[in-house]
Amino acid sequence: MEVAVAAGGGGGAKTPDEIIAKHCNACHGTGLLGAPKVGDTAAWKERADHQGGLDGILAKAITGINAMPPKGTCADCSDDDLKGAIKKMSGL
Ligand code: HEC
Repeated sequence: MEVAVAAGGGGGAKTPDEIIAKHCNACHGTGLLGAPKVGDTAAWKERADHQGGLDGILAKAITGINAMPPKGTCADCSDDDLKGAIKKMSGL
């Protein structure tokens, strides 16, 4: 269970919502630069199907892919942090 005590604070535990709001939403909220949109599960699933599932697209999110910056600009996000954000955005 995650309690949103860290909201707004730097460092410490981050919830997927916080990571998305701070780092991912700028592009994934609107589909900027061709990013798969938050909640568009079909678009995410198609990518996951081609990249070997959730871990496959996680790997691309860590290294970056085309206009997608490494770690989606969340330099201090752990792999698990990123995975949580991807799960939440994709609904996968
Ligand atoms: C500067 C804009 C931008 C930001 C910020 C951004 N993304 Fe992306 N993301 C993209 C774009 C554009 C693509 C599509 C890249 C392509 O396939 O050409 C993408 C694709 C992805 C993919 C799919 C990778 C694949 O293998 O197809 C994942 C997963 C992802 N982003 C996760 C994230 C996460 C998590 C964050 C926040 C921590 C984030 N992104 C922040 C632009 C962004």
